[in-house]
Amino acid sequence: MSESDQGAAPYAVGFRSVPRELETTQLAVKGRLPDWLSGALLRVAPAQFEVGRQAYAHWFDGLARLHRFGIADGSVTYQSRFLRSEAYTQAKRQGRIVHAEFATDPCRSLFGRVQAIFAPTITDNAVVSVNRIGDDLVALTETRLPVRFDPHTLETLGIHDFGASVEGSVSTAHPHHDGRLAYTYLISFGRQSFYHVHVVDGAQEREIARIPVERPSYMHSFGMSTRRIVLAEFPFVVNPLVLYLSGKPFIRNYRWDPRRGTTLTVLDKESGALVGRWTAPPLFAFHHVNAVDREDGGLEIDLVAYDDASVIDDLYLARLRGAEPVRAVGRLVRLTLPPDDGPVETRLLSHTPIELPRIDYPRRQGRPYRFVWGAGQAGEDFLDSIVKLDLDGDPADNALVWREDGAWPGEPVFVRRPGAAAEDDGVLLSVVLDAGAERSFLLVLDAATLTEIARAEAPEIVTFGFHGNFLGDPEDGPLHA
Ligand code: CO
Repeated sequence: MSESDQGAAPYAVGFRSVPRELETTQLAVKGRLPDWLSGALLRVAPAQFEVGRQAYAHWFDGLARLHRFGIADGSVTYQSRFLRSEAYTQAKRQGRIVHAEFATDPCRSLFGRVQAIFAPTITDNAVVSVNRIGDDLVALTETRLPVRFDPHTLETLGIHDFGASVEGSVSTAHPHHDGRLAYTYLISFGRQSFYHVHVVDGAQEREIARIPVERPSYMHSFGMSTRRIVLAEFPFVVNPLVLYLSGKPFIRNYRWDPRRGTTLTVLDKESGALVGRWTAPPLFAFHHVNAVDREDGGLEIDLVAYDDASVIDDLYLARLRGAEPVRAVGRLVRLTLPPDDGPVETRLLSHTPIELPRIDYPRRQGRPYRFVWGAGQAGEDFLDSIVKLDLDGDPADNALVWREDGAWPGEPVFVRRPGAAAEDDGVLLSVVLDAGAERSFLLVLDAATLTEIARAEAPEIVTFGFHGNFLGDPEDGPLHA
């Protein structure tokens, strides 16, 4: 360990800028990949944390770089390329941070601030996820500007245009899918703020609900069952006027107000009509895992919950890179809404902490399900393992864990074996940082047992990111219409 590394987290290299881009490179594979596994794992991650002499503040802020692990005939290729967003292009051109991000706002002068009120520059630094909206394969962040890209060359193709009639600036990087339909929401801030729920069918965009809200909640995702849509409004809320006038970075305007509890706003998926509102105890979550209609008319909402929103503070880069351990996981809980206006029941589904949760989305989303995979935290520091939770098991003991010394895994993406009957018959694909070697590798695990099937070492660090998806068989995931 060099002197400068003292006081640094053991995984800190995963938060270091990697400005180089890599053309398609063949990777050596240890182990044997399943013959049926064919396609590409497409991911996005922040990979540039400084521009000129300025630095981004938060994990969610760094400039987005796309990564592609191509898998065919038992071999693996890798390439990486920065997204040519306006945020990236302008930053490179001007040598400074131009666009305000989640927790970084370069606009310090009063003049700049006033300008920003009347002509807000919304960031298109799509650093959070890779998904599909309508006909477009896109990288997404939490704004109305998803960025289209070519899944083979990683070339940036331009903005997915929601159209001038679509209101709202803030959105989610986690759209839902039902066949060829994509569902998402946007939030418009103003004297009267709204949540706008949209359905996208090919190139057609339609607002199905417009819900007035006085203090919009910070939501990262939403729930969708076969019949209903649920917005979990956590009591981490903003006064829209403060958002415009404070001059502070976006998320620093939000306040934790537990007296509000968590409002569960449930809509009919077809008509957008308000079904009802329930109040649960105060909690915070980034990720909904699933939502399932009950036969009695109730609704089960599963999410990775935290006691409060302080996890957002723990994900500032200074905290993440520092020597103090960072808790980056929550717990899977089920909120059960009754068919009437009775109380919401809260139940812990596993004692094993989890984040970046995944299910067999194409087959289980909105339906009864048993398995959740995710990144775990078995030790003190940050995300250090991959976990599989069995919801049929005893919550005190329903987890399988994969872990290796000095290895820091990201989100495990489930890919089903073609023709599989069992819910967990397939593989997990996770990009893992080998901190000692200062390289990352694609890890392929048996999704049922979490035993290693194969790994392929990339010639560089893939910085810590959030989400990706597998583009393979049309039945494999949301990237296909
Ligand atoms: Co997310």
